[in-house]
Amino acid sequence: MKYVCELEGHQNIVDRENKLRKAITDVAYCDITKQYPVGTSDSPRYDCVLTGFCIEAVANSRQQWAQYVKNASNLLNSGGWFVQISMPADYYGVGDKRLHCFKVDEKFLLKSLKDAGLVVEKTYHTKHTTTCNYMNYEFTMVMIARKI
Ligand SMILES: C[S@@+](CC[C@H](N)C(=O)[O-])C[C@H]1O[C@@H](n2cnc3c(N)ncnc32)[C@H](O)[C@@H]1O
Repeated sequence: MKYVCELEGHQNIVDRENKLRKAITDVAYCDITKQYPVGTSDSPRYDCVLTGFCIEAVANSRQQWAQYVKNASNLLNSGGWFVQISMPADYYGVGDKRLHCFKVDEKFLLKSLKDAGLVVEKTYHTKHTTTCNYMNYEFTMVMIARKI
C-alpha cells in the first residue's frame, strides 16, 4: 500500500486505504475461458470491465484470445466500458521463473475488440523507461472500448 501510494503521489496512506476498502464491495471468482467469466448468463452485467495482462497469460492462440474477449464482453451492460491493458511479449518473469505470455499485435487486438461487439474509443501506448531481464516487451498497449 505504501509503495503504491508513493507511486501515485498520495501522502495520506490511511485515508487512501480506507477509500479503497469502501470502494471494493465484493470479490468474485473469474474464469475468462468461460462464456460468462463471472456468474451465469442470468447474473447482473457491469458498467465497466478491466483486464490487465490476463488474456495473454491464459490464451495459447489467436482464436482463444478472440473468444476470451467475447467472454469478457458478455459481462458488460450495453454502453459499458471495456479497458484492456496488454503487453506484446513472449514471456514475463516472476522470481527466476519465466511464465507464458501469448504475443499479439495492435492490429489483431483492434479486430478482436470489434468482433466482440466493442467500439474502440481510445488507444495509447505507455513506453517503458527502464530495461529489465524478466520480460521482453518495450511498451504496454491500453485500449478503451464501449459495448454497443
Ligand atoms: C500476469 S498476471 C496479471 C495480474 C494483474 N492483473 C497485474 O496486472 O499485475 C495474470 C493473471 O491472470 C490470472 N488468470 C489466470 N488464469 C485465468 C483465467 N482462466 N481467467 C481469469 N484470469 C486468469 C492469474 O490469476 C493472474 O492474476
